[in-house]
Amino acid sequence: MTGTRDERVREIVTRYAAHRGPLLPALHAVQEDLGWIDRDDAAVIADVLNLSKADVHGVVTFYADFRDAAATRHTVSVCRGEACQAVGGQELYERSVSRFATIDDVTVTEVFCLGNCALGPSAQLDGRLHGRLSDDRVSALTQGWS
Ligand code: FES
Repeated sequence: MTGTRDERVREIVTRYAAHRGPLLPALHAVQEDLGWIDRDDAAVIADVLNLSKADVHGVVTFYADFRDAAATRHTVSVCRGEACQAVGGQELYERSVSRFATIDDVTVTEVFCLGNCALGPSAQLDGRLHGRLSDDRVSALTQGWS
């Protein structure tokens, strides 16, 4: 990468400035190129697209696909949709957060419905969908992640 991060963000986002609805594709492009969307990137993106920083920040924080830090090697995305909540999704999420709290290479996120409602609680482990999860099963499926 040449130049500063701000310059690179400006260069990427400028490609989308004339598009209709440029924010989402611009954010995806920044994340793909730079790995994440830094909080300071919002000011540059807002300037290029003539939006407010709050608009940009709101979109970045609304969508779980956008990261504000470098990606970790592993991800645990626990469903907190209603069907999964009814069968232990909340507890599974809390236990997963606790389990991986001290492991830098794992990110635990919450998602709201993975389309696997009948087999909850559900989660994606490194992008692979699993149903009827328990804490013990998550432990078994993630052996070697620490
Ligand atoms: S509510 Fe969890 S998969 Fe739909």
